[in-house]
Amino acid sequence: MPIRPTILVFDSGLGGLTVLREIVAARPDARYVYVADDAFFPYGQHSEDEIIGRVVPLIGELIARHAPDLVVIACNTASTLVMSYLRAAYSVPFVGTVPAIKPACVKSKTRRVSVLGTKGTVQREYTRALIRDFAGGCEVTLVGSPELAALAERALSGNDISDAAIAAEIAPCFVGGSDGPGARTDTVVLACTHYPLLLDRLVKLAPWRVDWIDPAPAIARRVCDLLSTHHGEPDEPDAELIFTSKRPHNLSRALMPFFGGRVPA
Ligand code: DGL
Repeated sequence: MPIRPTILVFDSGLGGLTVLREIVAARPDARYVYVADDAFFPYGQHSEDEIIGRVVPLIGELIARHAPDLVVIACNTASTLVMSYLRAAYSVPFVGTVPAIKPACVKSKTRRVSVLGTKGTVQREYTRALIRDFAGGCEVTLVGSPELAALAERALSGNDISDAAIAAEIAPCFVGGSDGPGARTDTVVLACTHYPLLLDRLVKLAPWRVDWIDPAPAIARRVCDLLSTHHGEPDEPDAELIFTSKRPHNLSRALMPFFGGRVPA
């Protein structure tokens, strides 16, 4: 493993930045390439075959171009589908992002947990298997949100998003309101990397207080486990932001906090 590893972080859009910022905080010495496949966004609206057919060859092209030491698929909608294909096709180590059902069910006191993801993620057999294997007797409600990823994307690009639009997307997560605080949903898994971008709004608009489970810190720990030890701060520009649509954008400065204060090229 080289002294300064190159880490490629991939998502359908800007949601994977919520994973990137945790990895950057843990490994500020690494070089980063962030790829948003916005030409194909949102993944939640595509069929399984379309996502496999899109992501597997695209990741191959990105590996050939950027020679990363590790690739993070910072997208639940893709990871719940493509990880085995990627590992079979390419020798680079991969870290995926899948719904944090196990820790959520361990944490829940009321034994009522909701999983908030894209329509694709909540339909996956992978997600259903996580519930079968790890729910541990909790009642798990799957909530497929049609719009929340797009709303998060628009909010990050500076657009006003109404409270009503967000509240409608999260409402089905809150189960058992009339059963009292000891029995209603107390834990919501953020099973789409876009959703932590709206965390302040989610907290404010929730009908009652719940724990929101964001897997990003656990993903950053996994990345650190797979890489060699830390080798000090970088001394040259080391962050790149790529949109597959090649559309002009002026987000580089606005997105600096996700890159640990660096302006991505
Ligand atoms: N950020 C992606 C995820 O974690 C999905 C957004 C999309 O629908 O493209 O699932």
